[in-house]
Amino acid sequence: MNEQSIRQRKAKYFTWFVGGIAALSGLLFGLDIGVIAGALPFLAHDLSISNHQQEWVVSAMMFGAAIGALTAGWMSYRLGRKKSILTGAVLFVIGSLWSAFSPDVTSLVCARVLLGLAVGFASYTAPLYIAEIAPERYRGSMISMYQMMLTTGIVVAFLSDAALSYSGNWRLMLGVIALPALVLFIGVLFLPNSPRWLAATGRYHDAQKVLERLRSSDSQAQQELNEIRESLQVKQSGWALFRSNTNFRRSVGLGVLLQVMQQFTGMNVVMYYAPKIFAIAGFASTSQQMWGTVIVGITNMLATLIAVGLVDRWGRKPMLFTSFLVMAVGMGALGLFIHMGIHSLAVQYASIIMLLLFIVGFAMAAGPVIWLLCSEVQPLKGRDFGITLSTTTNWVANMIVGATFLTLLDSFGNANTFWLYGALNVLFIVITVWLVPETKNVSLEHIERNLMQGKALRHIGK
Ligand code: BGC
Repeated sequence: MNEQSIRQRKAKYFTWFVGGIAALSGLLFGLDIGVIAGALPFLAHDLSISNHQQEWVVSAMMFGAAIGALTAGWMSYRLGRKKSILTGAVLFVIGSLWSAFSPDVTSLVCARVLLGLAVGFASYTAPLYIAEIAPERYRGSMISMYQMMLTTGIVVAFLSDAALSYSGNWRLMLGVIALPALVLFIGVLFLPNSPRWLAATGRYHDAQKVLERLRSSDSQAQQELNEIRESLQVKQSGWALFRSNTNFRRSVGLGVLLQVMQQFTGMNVVMYYAPKIFAIAGFASTSQQMWGTVIVGITNMLATLIAVGLVDRWGRKPMLFTSFLVMAVGMGALGLFIHMGIHSLAVQYASIIMLLLFIVGFAMAAGPVIWLLCSEVQPLKGRDFGITLSTTTNWVANMIVGATFLTLLDSFGNANTFWLYGALNVLFIVITVWLVPETKNVSLEHIERNLMQGKALRHIGK
């Protein structure tokens, strides 16, 4: 093997190592989303808390995540992406142990807010960091790997809940998350700073050093640095850029809209209320509902592989289009079965297949590709600002969807609620065709140039 190919191989392994460690934040994000459903009945009993207090325990994390996402932009600009992920990891460790040892509900709610902050930092910083270190050829796969870790976290949490449910040890369920958080902390210590952040803070020499480790030749690193330098010519940044520049306002609007779309697909209705949906579909026993939920998690995880494998080849836009289409069919058919009445075993299973189809639809693109697009479309000088707004929107929309589902079922009816989500997915197909750009195989700087020249959003990746 000659020197050049050794270097290429080294750069590739190093890049995947860096991306893999950063993607571990996704695992923690998933563990924290998944763990509470199984722990809740036991801790509610142990701490004798009311339904209302249980809602607090659940939503405290979303609240913390929205605040976390809002402050992460500032932090990731001032301290850098690497230190922000480190801070997130420390908060994950403290939050997990604190919740495991909480003596009462007030303490538990505070611990969950802290964990939420960690999730908010992670969901902001990790995709952004990965987008900034990844070469354009596999940027999509690397960010989809982050989503893959997230969905793995959800499954592991469901399984660990199911295993620990025999002893009812909710403190262990919540506390055990400190271990992967510790692994994340140690792993992140070995990561380089983002070259784009280094350049944005004037450290071009350091940026070049990092790029030379991540890219297969010095000339490639140099060329990328030149492009970054060019995108830093924009005088204003953040809020000032937002106020003065229509083009930047368009990309911010797109990021916010994409996250609204992701949440209003109805995915988290299934994540948070899967047992309830199984009950509506006629599966009455708790163990059927529990294992059904595990199957939902596994489907979600496996279908994310579709995104990892295809996003840099087939492209973002056709995948997103198909994703919304599949979800519309899944939700529409589920609503139809419920409307007709689930009277036979065949219809019962058919409705679960439709539910799983919906999950496949989400996991193959709306889950990973929206995080990916949100970190791709913002110009460097406005990246922190733009992603702050889109990530915060994700969490606020997440809260709204989670908090309205039961009320919708009551006031609107079961079938109508699923049809409503089906119809929203149809609307998202139209928005995808109209606004979503194709960004595969182009550099972030190329996207930025097109955006700032005023090209239509759907053309900024051309
Ligand atoms: C979404 C989460 C969702 C998860 C499910 C993520 O991309 O942002 O809200 O719970 O996917 O896999």
